[in-house]
Amino acid sequence: MSLKFKKILIGVCGGIAAYKSAHLIRLFKKQGAEVQVIMTPESTAFISPLTLSTLSEKPVLIHFQKKTEGEWNNHVALGLWADVMIIAPATAHTLGKMANGIADNLLTAVYFSARCPVFFAPAMDLDMLIHPSVKRNIEYLQSIGNYLIDAEVGELASGLYGKGRMAEPEHIIQTIEKFFCPYRPLEGKKVMITLGATREYLDPVRYITNASSGKMGFALAEHAHNLGAEVFAIVGSVSSQTSNSQIHQIHVKTALEMFEKSRELFSLMDYAIFCAAVADYRPKTVHSQKMKKSSETVTLELIKNPDIAQELSKFKKEHQITVGFALETEQALENARLKRIRKHLDIIVMNSIENPQSTFEYDTNQVVVITPTQEISLPLKSKKEIAQDIWKIILSFEKEKSSQRHESL
Ligand code: PMT
Repeated sequence: MSLKFKKILIGVCGGIAAYKSAHLIRLFKKQGAEVQVIMTPESTAFISPLTLSTLSEKPVLIHFQKKTEGEWNNHVALGLWADVMIIAPATAHTLGKMANGIADNLLTAVYFSARCPVFFAPAMDLDMLIHPSVKRNIEYLQSIGNYLIDAEVGELASGLYGKGRMAEPEHIIQTIEKFFCPYRPLEGKKVMITLGATREYLDPVRYITNASSGKMGFALAEHAHNLGAEVFAIVGSVSSQTSNSQIHQIHVKTALEMFEKSRELFSLMDYAIFCAAVADYRPKTVHSQKMKKSSETVTLELIKNPDIAQELSKFKKEHQITVGFALETEQALENARLKRIRKHLDIIVMNSIENPQSTFEYDTNQVVVITPTQEISLPLKSKKEIAQDIWKIILSFEKEKSSQRHESL
């Protein structure tokens, strides 16, 4: 599960770290979440409501409003609306009110009405953070079910050095992701996925390509990220995108560029999935100027591109798992089985071309996943669901492989 469509209430208090809320909102929005910002009146001196409402694409709420003054911002309704509330930065002042039942502004009133989980990220000077009263409030807030996103050590606005900086927005996002998706078998693992089509240039404006949209590859990348992996997508030409800004994207055009970038990363990866539709051949000559229309026919001489999946899988280490795809129009299953072995892949996913809603460009796919011991047919379903099933199969293959290794020791 990602943060897409999640309803996030961000409470901003009056501290210098309020500037970080802007970045936090951007990260949530990039993940497809809906964000409602509530500011304390004091925080508006540190960052403008206009900035935060522009980034969140919603008016920022600061004061209680009567229905006659515009949209009714009822603190009870806001507290019920959210899937999660994050108070960041949380000042000593607001923490004190939260711990002592003082609802003297909209933010604290919403906090007391919220039925959703509440996270708070303190930000203050180091001596304030270790003051017994503040410590007691933080401990008390945790003891009644709120989640602390602890302050970090570093330079503080006062010029002092120590613990008190608000957690970085990236860290806050990761904490929330972990909360919503606690099953993270890929935590600490690195995944590389090639995706999209390559372009093989004839001249500066013309090229040979195919219709790969990138949808299957991005679905695999997004799910790998949801399972906790750090994901590197080597992206060719695509007509789709991911809203997940945490996925590192490396853009390439040709098969040679894709090979180069994949080769640079491969040895650092735990898993490599070759989902790109790579051109097997490229024009032998790339004209430096646009080719002129002169003769009636043109003969193109093509030369072989490196086979990225095959070349890299040859050198895979014991712990690495490689997965390829197969797109075949005849004797598909038999050819896919042979391809898995020829390309030294652990697993190959054969796209079924029987179903017209499968393979290139569609949001759906129908595949057979071939491992050394099993062939699993997956019916036509969304590429997102297919990606989840493929990862399930990869993880159970890995488990099987490691238990065989232990038995043979
Ligand atoms: O992007 P979508 O529109 O969502 O479509 C998804 C898809 C159909 C592109 C995808 O599911 C898929 O099948 N990708 C691989 C297509 C392909 O090129 O298959 P192939 O049978 O020609 O290649 C076999 C394997 O070798 C593939 O893993 C391919 O990435 C890899 N390969 C091929 C040639 C080459 N020079 N280098 C490679 O790495």
